[in-house]
Amino acid sequence: MKIISVVGARPQFVKLAPMARALAPHAEHVIVHTGQHYDPMLSASFFSELDIATPNHHLAIGSGTHGHQTGAMLAALEDVFAVENADSVLVYGDTNSTVAAAIAATKMQIRLHHLEAGLRSFNRAMPEEHNRVLTDHSADLCLAPTEVAMAHLASEGLGARSVLVGDVMTDVVLETRDRVAGSPCPVPDALRGRPFYLATLHRPSNTDDAERLGRILRSLSRLEHPVLLLAHPRLLVRVHDFGLDLADGRIHAVGAASYPDLVRLVLGSAGVITDSGGLQKESFLLQRPCVTVRSETEWTETVDLGWNTLAGDRIDEIPSILQGLDPVATTEAPYGTGDAAIRATEAILNDLAGLA
Ligand code: UD1
Repeated sequence: MKIISVVGARPQFVKLAPMARALAPHAEHVIVHTGQHYDPMLSASFFSELDIATPNHHLAIGSGTHGHQTGAMLAALEDVFAVENADSVLVYGDTNSTVAAAIAATKMQIRLHHLEAGLRSFNRAMPEEHNRVLTDHSADLCLAPTEVAMAHLASEGLGARSVLVGDVMTDVVLETRDRVAGSPCPVPDALRGRPFYLATLHRPSNTDDAERLGRILRSLSRLEHPVLLLAHPRLLVRVHDFGLDLADGRIHAVGAASYPDLVRLVLGSAGVITDSGGLQKESFLLQRPCVTVRSETEWTETVDLGWNTLAGDRIDEIPSILQGLDPVATTEAPYGTGDAAIRATEAILNDLAGLA
């Protein structure tokens, strides 16, 4: 049995780690890195910190417009898939790397398995929403993280080829939380011993509009505590282009963090402000309140259980929204209990066995 995992961007490396471990005893596992993310702190650091094997193929596609980037990946993946002759292609989440691999596998009639299937924001302006919908509808088996995702798949006519496995990112968060317990929080000296908030911003809808980005940064600079901002490369470029100042007010901007450091920082923080999907859920799992700088979320359970609030267009009110959050600890586990990779592996193997 040979299974190819295709990854390319930061959150996919996190999801790959437990899948690679779970698949290892059962299948020959080939890792293909598209090169969508290439900065060491967005890519290589995840492979070393999460103990993932070096990719068997690195396509070095890099950045580009959506069509150019996705098209270049599609062509290069077809060549790799032809050489590897695998039983299945496994794709993760909703990036351009995901949809490129989904199309390549479908065209070559290789069985396609989609992990983190069924998430919907219902915002068709998001590139990730196109990628998810196209990938789910191409997949032979949709591996869903939540009941809500299963319901979305059923309503789109995909229920018969969907299975609930839980969220593999939860496997990694819980394991990393236990691994880093007791180790110091890696804050800059200026914040040491002080309460702080953790922030990330990378979505084009927030970073690419000068007026909106300026208002978000001004809102962050008025928070009750200083803000440690982990800056994505796109944010740094836009801040420079728009003549904005990241070192304003209470904001302390640093580069991206390694995964264990991210978990330490969330645990050390008083709360999180983000437009990332993964970080909303990590905040919930690590029990820190979160304000999401978007109008919708795919992880609706974090909002329903009181740990996350969507700022929407109230971007000037982030300080009062954050102060208004008073979440209560919950025993509910909408994302599973840390065994999603094992369940996803079983589902993939059952699917492939059914074909034999
Ligand atoms: C991608 C995913 C997004 C995911 C995010 C995680 C898509 C459509 N988006 O967004 O779903 O949440 O990854 O971080 O696939 N850049 C660098 N160095 C890098 C990579 C990118 O400087 O290593 C810069 C480039 O200017 C590039 C820009 O960041 O054009 C955007 O990168 P890209 O990979 O297109 O999308 P992300 O915003 O990272």
